[in-house]
Amino acid sequence: MVTATRIQAPEVTETRLLINGEWCDADSGKTFACINPATGDTIAQIAEGDAADVDRAVKSARKAFETGPWSKMSARDRGNLLLKLADLIGEHAEELAALETLDNGKPITEALNADIPMVQAAYRYYGGWADKIYGDTIPVDRAMGNFFCYTKREPVGVCGQIIPWNFPLLMMAWKWGPALACGNTVILKPAEQTPLGALRVGALAMEAGFPPGVINIVNGFGETAGDALVKHPDVDKIAFTGEYKTAQIIMANAAPTLKRLTFELGGKSPNVVFADADLDQAAQGAMAGIFFNQGEVCCAGSRLFVEQSIHDEFVDRFKTLAEQRRLGDPFDPQTEQGAQVSEEQFDKVMKYIDIGKNEDKATCVTGGERFGDKGFFVKPTIFTGVNNQMRIARDEIFGPVVSVLPFSDFDSLVSDANDTQYGLASAVWTKDITKAHAFADAVKAGTVWVNCYNTFDIAAPFGGYKFSGHGRECGRNVLDHYTETKTVWINLGER
Ligand code: NAI
Ligand code: MG
Repeated sequence: MVTATRIQAPEVTETRLLINGEWCDADSGKTFACINPATGDTIAQIAEGDAADVDRAVKSARKAFETGPWSKMSARDRGNLLLKLADLIGEHAEELAALETLDNGKPITEALNADIPMVQAAYRYYGGWADKIYGDTIPVDRAMGNFFCYTKREPVGVCGQIIPWNFPLLMMAWKWGPALACGNTVILKPAEQTPLGALRVGALAMEAGFPPGVINIVNGFGETAGDALVKHPDVDKIAFTGEYKTAQIIMANAAPTLKRLTFELGGKSPNVVFADADLDQAAQGAMAGIFFNQGEVCCAGSRLFVEQSIHDEFVDRFKTLAEQRRLGDPFDPQTEQGAQVSEEQFDKVMKYIDIGKNEDKATCVTGGERFGDKGFFVKPTIFTGVNNQMRIARDEIFGPVVSVLPFSDFDSLVSDANDTQYGLASAVWTKDITKAHAFADAVKAGTVWVNCYNTFDIAAPFGGYKFSGHGRECGRNVLDHYTETKTVWINLGER
C-alpha cells in the first residue's frame, strides 16, 4: 500500500485528439464537457471526435501498419517500447491515479494501489510477450509429397478499441498491451465519461517512442466516434468492453465489413456462501464483491446466494460491514467508496433501488438512498427477500446494490445461479473442497473464485459465457484474437 499522504487533483495537460503522432482538435471544432462526478463541476472541455477524425486516425493507423517503421520493427523492439511505457507509468503513478480519481470518482487509495499497478503490470506482461508469439512446424502427411509446413502469427491489422469508464486506464492497457505486442496499430475510443487518463498515457506512449500512427486516441461519443470506427471499411477488428446492448449494435454494424470482434460485457454474478464457510472471510468477500469501485464492476457479485441456515446471521454481519464503509471525497485517502461515474449512472442506480423497493417489493435492509447533497454518491444498499425473477436480480445495475437470495439445496442453487443471461464470474465460499469443485464445474461463468473475490492477474484469462462476451482478455488467450495464423506449405521436392 502506498501511504495515505494527500494527493491533489492534477492539472489536465491535454484535451485534444491524438492522430498520427500529433495532438489536434476535432475537424468539426466541437468539444464536450468532462465532469467531476464527486462535485458535478466541469473539469475541462475535451475535443469531440466524430467520423471525420476517425477516418483520419484509420488512415494514419493503416499507413503505420503497412509501410511505417512499425511494420519493419522487430518484435523485441516492440516489446521494449511497451516496457518503456510501463516504466513511464510507474514514474507517473500518482498523477495517473489522481486523473482516474478526478475523472471517474473512485477513491484515490484504490486508484493508486489497484488500478495503476495493474495498468503497469499489463504493459510489462505484454511487453514480455512481444518476442514470444510464434507459429509451429506441422508434421503433414508424407504420402502427398515432401512438404515442409509451418505457421506464422501475423498481426490482424488496424484495431478499433472501444472502452468503458469504470477502469479507464486498465481497460486501455488490456486493449493496447496485447494489440501492440502482436504488431497491430490501434485507434482507441475512450468512454465519453472518462477521457482524461487515456490522453496522458497517450502522451507517455509518444515519449516512450511509439512511431506516429501506431497509437491513436479519438475521444467522442459512442453513437458518433464509436459508430464510425465500427463501420469503417479499413478497420480489421473491434475490441469492445461495455453493455451487451451496445455489443449487439456493434455486431450488426460490423457485419457488412465482417470485422473480427471480441467483447467483454456485463454480468449478474452469483456469489455463493455455504453454511460451512469462514463467515468473517465470506462477509468481507461479499462486501468487496459488490461494493468495490462503487459497484461499477462487470464481475460484481450482485446476486449473493446465502444458505438458508445462516441467512439471518450472515445478513447481519454483511449489513454491519456495509454500514461501516467510509463514503466521501474520493481524494481523501480514508475514503473507501467514491462517487458513481455520472449523473446518468446515478439515476440508473436510484431507479433500480426504487424498483427493488416498490415493484419487486424486496426488503431494503440498509442504504437505499443517496449520500450527501452534491455529486453522485449512493449508499451501499442490500436487498433481502429477493428471488431470481425480480428485476433487481435479473438486470445489471452497475452500482453498490446487492440482492440476497436464500438457498437450501445444491441442485436448485446451481440452477438459480445459472438462470441468468450472463456468465462472467462467480464465487463460492465453503471449507468443503468437494462442494467447491462441484460448483466450479456446474456454474456457467468465465471465472470462478473459491474463498476469494475480485482476484485478478494480467496472466489469468478473463471473459464471459453467454451475454457476457466473446473471447478472453488477459493471459496468452487474448493474443489469438490479435493475430492471424498463416499456414505456409513448401514443396521441398524429392532428393
Ligand atoms: P456503453 O456500452 O454504451 O459504452 C461503452 C463504450 O461504448 C463507450 O466508449 C461508448 O462511447 C461506446 N459506445 C456506445 N454506443 C456505441 C455504438 N453505438 N457504437 C460504438 N460504440 C459505442 O455503456 P454505458 O452506456 O456507458 O453504460 C450502460 C451500462 O452498461 C452500465 O450501466 C452497465 O450496466 C454496463 N457497462 C458494463 C461495463 C463492463 O465493464 N462490462 C462497462 C460500462 C458499462
Ligand atoms: Mg450507452
